[in-house]
Amino acid sequence: WIVSRTARAPSNIAVIKYWGKRDEDLILPLNSSISVTLDPNDLSATTTVSTSPDFDADRLWLNDKEVSLSSHRYVSCLKELRDRATDVKDEKTGIVITKEDWKHLKLHIVSKNNFPTAAGLASSAAGFACLVFTVAQLMGIKESFPGELSTIARRGSGSACRSLHGGFVKWEMGKRDDGKDSIAVPLAEHHEWDDLRIVICVVSSRQKEVSSTSGMQESVQTSPLLHYRAKEVVPKRITEMEEALSKRDFSSFAKLTCADSNQFHATCLDTSPPIFYMNDTSRRIIGLVERWNKSEGSPQAAYTFDAGPNAVIFVPQKSGGALLHRLLYEFPPPEGMNLSSYVVGSTELL
Ligand code: DP6
Repeated sequence: WIVSRTARAPSNIAVIKYWGKRDEDLILPLNSSISVTLDPNDLSATTTVSTSPDFDADRLWLNDKEVSLSSHRYVSCLKELRDRATDVKDEKTGIVITKEDWKHLKLHIVSKNNFPTAAGLASSAAGFACLVFTVAQLMGIKESFPGELSTIARRGSGSACRSLHGGFVKWEMGKRDDGKDSIAVPLAEHHEWDDLRIVICVVSSRQKEVSSTSGMQESVQTSPLLHYRAKEVVPKRITEMEEALSKRDFSSFAKLTCADSNQFHATCLDTSPPIFYMNDTSRRIIGLVERWNKSEGSPQAAYTFDAGPNAVIFVPQKSGGALLHRLLYEFPPPEGMNLSSYVVGSTELL
């Protein structure tokens, strides 16, 4: 027999960034962060997890290529999940799998992104959120406290914990050493701010040179700005961002989003040796949005850049046409960029 579950989880984009860990093993951050989860139809991972007495090892295929599960992150996630497995009866086959059986049964995991991994659009966040959610469904895991699953996804990749919810999500940094209070909590559902549009400008599809994981390690070790930011700046911004979101105040949301992206990249530059994630095209996009906002006297759009050159632009629906017009004028096709407009969504069982 074989029993399977399939689910998909979207990527998320941080508007108040996570950059720096206080615990590398448990993946505990130096500051809280806030993100928006994209629509799974646009950028997501879809994962099928199967188990059968015939399987003799845990195995993973990512975008049709077999990948080793020996890395610490996969090992920790799978161990945390197995520890919480329950007795389950599969509706389709009638097979009963006990808590004891899960200790020995092996898993085959097949995961696919609906966007190129190389495009640098947070594929690990969607991937780990999806893996943890799907295995939890298969093993009948019920959370013993709200956010428990997010603490497991966090062990795969910090930003993955935020992809388990839809809409705007806060990752609470937590205070405990065991990480039990370092969880993702939903702030506002996407339908509550449904005229907000997200435009992703794929500036380069090259894989980034410095991964987020090693980049943030280097910043923690060498950047004084990072420690100032985590202690003095981000806590205040988190409160202000939560207030802007609860009021659907686009102007405050836009100012905070741009300021936080710029400080994150300043922190990268303050790292020794400096890390450059943005390129000339990224900076031209910043210039375009800043000029537009200045000429209108109030924010029309907000930009943010993660650990790569691709721009994510937030714009109220009514200004979306004007934004695309400006972008296409600045970057005329065919040598220009690929533009896609995305809405927000959440993780779901298929
Ligand atoms: C710039 O979550 O990819 O996108 O926890 O080491 O896996 P690890 O790092 P990761 O870092 C994301 C950094 C960021 C900002 C953010 O998403 O908050």
